[in-house]
Amino acid sequence: TIHDQKMSRGEGGELHQTAEDLGTEVMTTAQGGPISDDQNTLKIGPRGPALIEDFHFREKIFHFDHERIPERVVHARGYGAHGFFETTHSLAKFSRADLFQRVGERTPAFVRFSTVAGSKGSVDLARDVRGFAVKIYTKEGNWDLVGNNIPVFFIQDAIKFPDLIHSVKEEPDRAFPQAQSAHDNFWDFISLTPESMHMVMWVMSDRAIPRSFRFMEGFGVHTFRLVNADGESTFVKFHWKPKLGMQSVLWNEAVKINGADPDFHRRDLWTAISTGNFPEWELRVQLFDQEFADKFDFDILDATKIIPEEIIPPVPVGRLVLDRMPDNFFAETEQVAFMTQNVPPGIDFSNDPLLQGRNFSYLDTQLKRLGSPNFAHLPINAPKCPFAHFQQDGHMAMHNPVGRANYQPNSHGLGPRESPQRGFVPFPEAEEGAKAKFRAESFADHYSQARQFYLSQTRTEQHHIVSALTFELSKVEISVIRERVLSHLLLIDETLATNVANRLGIKAMPKPADAAVPTRQDLPPSPALSIIEN
Ligand code: HEM
Repeated sequence: TIHDQKMSRGEGGELHQTAEDLGTEVMTTAQGGPISDDQNTLKIGPRGPALIEDFHFREKIFHFDHERIPERVVHARGYGAHGFFETTHSLAKFSRADLFQRVGERTPAFVRFSTVAGSKGSVDLARDVRGFAVKIYTKEGNWDLVGNNIPVFFIQDAIKFPDLIHSVKEEPDRAFPQAQSAHDNFWDFISLTPESMHMVMWVMSDRAIPRSFRFMEGFGVHTFRLVNADGESTFVKFHWKPKLGMQSVLWNEAVKINGADPDFHRRDLWTAISTGNFPEWELRVQLFDQEFADKFDFDILDATKIIPEEIIPPVPVGRLVLDRMPDNFFAETEQVAFMTQNVPPGIDFSNDPLLQGRNFSYLDTQLKRLGSPNFAHLPINAPKCPFAHFQQDGHMAMHNPVGRANYQPNSHGLGPRESPQRGFVPFPEAEEGAKAKFRAESFADHYSQARQFYLSQTRTEQHHIVSALTFELSKVEISVIRERVLSHLLLIDETLATNVANRLGIKAMPKPADAAVPTRQDLPPSPALSIIEN
């Protein structure tokens, strides 16, 4: 036990243990050289000066000086765990992806939950979207489903992402607020970006202050494609449903928890997993075809819209269980590199312009953050299936080609080679059109689903949305921004707008915002669909 351990006393009176005291391995430098004294620098005489000849001191300080890497530009604060994905229903009819073929088969997985806006050291219960990033180490390479706990997003086109994030993070002159959405710049951007209205309703709801990661849903958000062995495509949306159900806290609870224990969500996941209470989610999919997509009231490529579950009920595919905490936070949770473009054969992208932009962004950001094109060599990022290619060299290369040939075709008979049968083949969607900076008209209704979400809430939940909007807008100093937000709320629900205005003490209600297209008051119906026989 800790009490029984033998200690030595150094000349300065400090207590320490030698390898002999502890019967443990000898401490070494990074070069493997055994160390005799890790407490005192090399000096001339007991009072110095210190010598630069002390290579051990120099290496120790040098390495410490270089410990920090850039934090993620978004989702900087996160917490991860290992587990597995188990297929419970075969998706073979719709996807050739190996992980979906055999019921009962388990595939290793790593999940990182996060907040979006705050920095690495910020509080867990900020009102914010939660990241729900899943890496599944399939036999055909890593599949990263980099999702959130909210099924829609603020913007429709990735080109707006830097502006959205600049507006939500701390303001550039004063460097605050550090983790909350409540400030002028965020609401300024939102009020000038009506496509964000649906997401804003979700963010003002209880979903944005979850009780813990274990009580959250997760969503892939975008429409993806599944492609089967015959090359046929089906559209898909991915949903993670928590076995424990969903729970949130109240805002005044969140504020207290943040003060008393800013690591509340981390501690919850650590404690649950270390005591054998393994959190679990069911993976469900909404499947639909082109015919449904053509008839649906909204564009299935628009990431600010959901497909209501009453119209296409999500069906179960598998379960995700988290059963092991990382051995080392930095090595695993901090260095894990999620990328939307990591898909195995049988899962493909749609033309959602937000998804297409993300597929570019994540590779770029991982190189910046991890500093070497060989970040996939890190154990947390490396595939757990065999992999082989002719990529070589670069900083920290650990998997260089073996043998004489590092190119192909070659006459040495040295592999690897491509496989048209087993390799990833993009779904050959036919495309045509002029080249221009288009904005799709089918993306234009920004209010109907915001209203649908608000009206789907219970009275208590609606009350929480009113309170959240009141609190947030009360922090906005520039009155025109507040009024602009109200002008959008009027198009979502008049009572909602009036309640918020009253509580803010705003007497003269602004005019409703100009909506690009008339918004629908009566949602659903849309054509129901079942291409799955349950
Ligand atoms: C990080 C989700 C949109 C750029 C993340 C993470 C999640 C996520 C969960 C954290 C990954 C982790 O835990 O390590 C989403 C979702 C989006 C979205 C669901 C919309 C549906 C975008 C867009 C862009 C973007 C449009 C850029 C065009 C980034 C970047 C990171 C990130 C640069 C930091 C990655 C890192 O350093 O590891 N995103 N994101 N995201 N996202 Fe997104």
